[in-house]
Amino acid sequence: MTNENAIWEERMDLLAQQNYVVVDNYFPENILDNIQSFFNQKIEENELKKAAIGATGNEMIIESIRGDYTFWLDKNRDQDELRIFPFLDEMVNLFNRSFFLSLSDYEFHLALYPPGSFYKKHLDQFQGRNNRMISMIIYLNEAWSKGDGGELRVYEKNGHTDIPPLLNRCVLFRSDELYHEVLIANKPRRSITGWLLYQPSPIASIPGI
Ligand code: OGA
Ligand code: NI
Repeated sequence: MTNENAIWEERMDLLAQQNYVVVDNYFPENILDNIQSFFNQKIEENELKKAAIGATGNEMIIESIRGDYTFWLDKNRDQDELRIFPFLDEMVNLFNRSFFLSLSDYEFHLALYPPGSFYKKHLDQFQGRNNRMISMIIYLNEAWSKGDGGELRVYEKNGHTDIPPLLNRCVLFRSDELYHEVLIANKPRRSITGWLLYQPSPIASIPGI
């Protein structure tokens, strides 16, 4: 087994134990540059829209719950310009191997929190829509320091942990189990945020995760 595999195995163990795991330096440098220029381009083109809450067909924009702007990615449309999709495919494979899941798809968006915005405590599965298994966020904020806020607060059995949204930090967590929130960001806060999706299958089993 390669070293890299062993490291990911440890991360998967941690995720199973505490429902979340933090992975720093997730993307190679050139992919990170590619993401940032894609992100800048979408902002310039005014493609980020006020995010809604609720399942498709039932969406609502409620500023007092969630204040970010998003741009939904589409692999077929975006893969020539944005080179993250092989990494996401690899994550799906990794989860399927590690937990005998049958994840088969994902949905991701760019997210921008303007200064003063936040996302109140929630779960990433909502009524009528429970196929999100794993939440995955990669932060894209250079030179983020303490007073800038915008931490991801994850709720644990006893208390909580605040995770600063540092450049190239990836956080993975269980969409159905882990309550979390985004604390007020005092500077524009960027991420790629998404979900690995579970397609119900009669032969699938879901052990610890
Ligand atoms: C979400 C979410 C957390 C973050 O989009 O559902 O909780 O740190 N995002 O951006
Ligand atoms: Ni969330």
